[in-house]
Amino acid sequence: MTASEKPYVVLHNAVSANGRITGFEADQALYYALAGTWHEDATLVGSGTFLAVPGPFPEEDHHAFEPPFEIGTDNRPLLVVPDSGGRIRFWHYLKSLPFWREGIALCTGATPADHIDYLEKRHVHVVRVGEDRVDFSRALALLRDEFSIRTIRVDGGGTLNGVLLRAGLVDEISIVVSPCLAGGNPDGIFREPGVSAGTITLELIEARALENDHVWIRYRVAKCA
Ligand SMILES: NC(=O)c1ccc[n+]([C@@H]2O[C@H](COP(=O)([O-])OP(=O)(O)OC[C@H]3O[C@@H](n4cnc5c(N)ncnc54)[C@H](OP(=O)(O)O)[C@@H]3O)[C@@H](O)[C@H]2O)c1
Repeated sequence: MTASEKPYVVLHNAVSANGRITGFEADQALYYALAGTWHEDATLVGSGTFLAVPGPFPEEDHHAFEPPFEIGTDNRPLLVVPDSGGRIRFWHYLKSLPFWREGIALCTGATPADHIDYLEKRHVHVVRVGEDRVDFSRALALLRDEFSIRTIRVDGGGTLNGVLLRAGLVDEISIVVSPCLAGGNPDGIFREPGVSAGTITLELIEARALENDHVWIRYRVAKCA
């Protein structure tokens, strides 16, 4: 597949200074303000990311079964969720959020039939690509051809990022570094024995771009939580 046959794919993540994407409080306002940079046609959100959203969600009502509004001026992106296992059963909530105009569930031959039925009844587009897990190479080509998606911003955890990166499907990585060290990282510069603890807050001294694409960030350690 050539680059022109798939959408432009950007991973956008908030990380702690020791490279974690969980275990600290990212500045959501800053993260989402930057998320508009690419004017994405679709947001790809991992099922693991949605399953980590703390509930409870509101009860489902008749709105869940209404088709999306057909307004030509609606420029909001589409929401795309790879969910071969049919674990996302709160599409009524996702549809009620103001960020996306319509939803697409990426399913496979392994997705339970009753889940396909669940999605169709709620007017969530079903795209089947792959036997067991989602085949992203095919999925991206299909999203481009059938939904005119040219740019996708990925809001995923390490798993989705890893699958896309290893498949050679990522064009850009965007990282917003939070001024803290998140506890409990087995591989980071900050390891701690036992259970994961709180974060260590940092204050920026200086950030400088260096030769050969290096970035030098100096932080002052402000507070150990
Ligand atoms: N700091 C940040 O910027 C940031 C951003 C987003 C998320 N997060 C955090 O990341 C955590 C979730 O991360 P996660 O890694 O558990 O989940 P995730 O990356 O959000 O979701 C995993 C996704 O990968 C798919 N997948 C897994 N194995 C696959 C394979 N072999 N082939 C194709 N697709 C595959 C899954 O699809 P199936 O359902 O089909 O298996 C699922 O959609 C949450 O705590 C969330 O808050 C942080």
